[in-house]
Amino acid sequence: MVALPLARAVGRGGRVVGLDLSRGMLAVAAAKAAAEGLLAPGGPLELVEQDADAASFPHGSLDAITCSAALPFLTDTPRTLATWHSWLRPGGAGSSSRSSSSSSSSTSGCSCSSSSSSRGAGAGGGAGGGDGGLLAFNAFAAPNSPEFGIFLRLLADRHGIEVEDPCERLGSEERCAAAMAAAGFVDVQVVREEFDDTRPRSLEAFVDSWWRQCACSPFAPLDALLSPEQVEALRAEWVVLATASAAQRLVGGSVVNRPVTFVVTGRRP
Ligand SMILES: C[S@@+](CC[C@H](N)C(=O)[O-])C[C@H]1O[C@@H](n2cnc3c(N)ncnc32)[C@H](O)[C@@H]1O
Repeated sequence: MVALPLARAVGRGGRVVGLDLSRGMLAVAAAKAAAEGLLAPGGPLELVEQDADAASFPHGSLDAITCSAALPFLTDTPRTLATWHSWLRPGGAGSSSRSSSSSSSSTSGCSCSSSSSSRGAGAGGGAGGGDGGLLAFNAFAAPNSPEFGIFLRLLADRHGIEVEDPCERLGSEERCAAAMAAAGFVDVQVVREEFDDTRPRSLEAFVDSWWRQCACSPFAPLDALLSPEQVEALRAEWVVLATASAAQRLVGGSVVNRPVTFVVTGRRP
């Protein structure tokens, strides 16, 4: 989790809140953080199980917010970016105001961090210009995997249900930059990155994991859209197509994904 390097960076004088919906994800982070002595009360890191859409922080209270591979799961991107903008400490390019908040937070794989001694530590990366509150997140080109694209096509073809791909809204450099500008961020930088995701997983495990992601997408909750029989029929058809598709990327018995990501940074003026 991105909250861990942030907590290391701010040290005991700072505070980082790592927020995620998933108890399992938080348990993994907690085990790693505890081993390093990073967890509060002795350390700077607090881990919170919460829906990022329900999170709340005082306006202007955070030095930095980071969100790693989670923004596509939040269903109202413009509202989310505007909310995060309001939580950040003002003072970027064109502004003379500054603060040295000693609170911080993070959301859904988003980590918001702050420290009076190391503002935005660990998350700054390539953001240049002023030194207002920093937002850093990554977005993905759509579809995030060919198999998710197959799922969306099947849903449309078999049931006439058109579902937005959650990665579509921030699925290019231009869209990322436009969304940041619309939310009021300045010094915006968008860097395109491509990499091979080579985590070892068999064809069967890959397809199984992607079915679970397809079936519980917040944009297409299948249980609410289809009957159990329709879901099962869709799953069976998708598994055949997805298995054939993913098999083309088998390397040494493991499926390799090649997602295109956009690393986005900007500041609150
Ligand atoms: C691809 S994982 C990334 C995990 C972690 N941020 C990292 O970079 O290692 C996406 C994470 O987003 C979390 N997530 C999805 N929707 C969320 C929401 N509404 N609020 C908080 N977390 C959410 C999931 O539980 C999952 O852990």
